[in-house]
Amino acid sequence: MSALFQPFKLKDITLRNRIAVPPMCMYSAHDGLINDWHQVHLASLARGGAGLVIVEATAVSPEGRITPGCAGIWNDDLAQAFVPAVKAIKAAGAVPGIQIAHAGRKASANRPWEGDDHIAEGEPNGWQTIAPSAIPFGANLPKRPKAMTLDDIARVRQDFVDAARRARDAGFEWLELHFAHGYLAQSFFSAHANQRDDLYGGSFDNRSRFLLETLAAVREVWPEHLPFTARFGVIEFDGRDEQTLSESIELVRRFKQAGLDMLSVSMGFNIPDAKIPWAPGFMGPIAQRVRDEAGIPVSSAWGFGTPAVAEKAIQEKQLDLAMIGKAHLADPHWTYTAARELGIERPSWTLPAPYAHWLERY
Ligand SMILES: Cc1cc2nc3c(=O)[nH]c(=O)nc-3n(C[C@H](O)[C@H](O)[C@H](O)COP(=O)(O)O)c2cc1C
Repeated sequence: MSALFQPFKLKDITLRNRIAVPPMCMYSAHDGLINDWHQVHLASLARGGAGLVIVEATAVSPEGRITPGCAGIWNDDLAQAFVPAVKAIKAAGAVPGIQIAHAGRKASANRPWEGDDHIAEGEPNGWQTIAPSAIPFGANLPKRPKAMTLDDIARVRQDFVDAARRARDAGFEWLELHFAHGYLAQSFFSAHANQRDDLYGGSFDNRSRFLLETLAAVREVWPEHLPFTARFGVIEFDGRDEQTLSESIELVRRFKQAGLDMLSVSMGFNIPDAKIPWAPGFMGPIAQRVRDEAGIPVSSAWGFGTPAVAEKAIQEKQLDLAMIGKAHLADPHWTYTAARELGIERPSWTLPAPYAHWLERY
């Protein structure tokens, strides 16, 4: 019996299996507005059989985009553009999720295939970035951010709340706060990026404050019966890993107390020269530790794209959900492929009938 193909229930939502498509930026929106590319992309991933499809990092404000091509949800028109995609994901039997995000000091960058670096100073398509402190990320992202004032902090927190409310109204059934990957929220938690000497920097409590306040504020508007999740980098691979991990787990306990239902366990990406031990499924044991020590269901990505690796991670209770990213870009019907490889009975029926019927027959 495959573990990957067992349903997963969280709050009032049941996923048909343990396979999730993590958020993946398409860098193809215009002024935050998604278009036909996104509709087709998202619908095809849902048709492919995954239980959950999470829409890419969607900016809560224009300045929170990573690149000029990033999707946004800072007004109602942008939010309503997601409605057809939400409907298509649901019609294909998957659950529609969205990740809401602010890129902080990593914002104002060129698309990955156009340099993946900060837009040069003075270029008209770039903008002033903001962050906890005026410390650049470095390497390909050298732009110095403006240190946020207390008013800036309150405004961005409210931007997250408004984004969550719009996502709810557009029909999303799964919310993920982007607290990972060196973007704004993650950078508040990291001493690499946050050297404030006020209530939002310094001690563990202070570095946690922006994340906890934002989470609590969003909790007020996101429906209780729907999954409320976050993606958070629990480790930096900077040589201080045990300390970061134990601090992170304590923060995840507090997220849970504040109403979080599940954590997508990821990396901090707050420094350019992290020594990441890339290997298939390498985040599994770290995710399991968060799951056990914080007592919260977890998912993770990074190298679970081989069906046997994903199956093992679920079987061994490292993960409750396996996030399958790039393998879905290569094969939007990854779930069908996995069903065949794992010996699921009638694997074609992971696809809709107009495909399944023919694949089963000949
Ligand atoms: C094209 C692309 C875009 C991505 N965009 C996001 C994003 O919007 N938010 C996020 O948290 N991670 C993003 N990621 C990271 C993925 O969610 C995932 O963690 C990563 O691809 C590793 O999983 P994999 O080995 O299954 O591909 C992106 C990755 C790719 C390849």
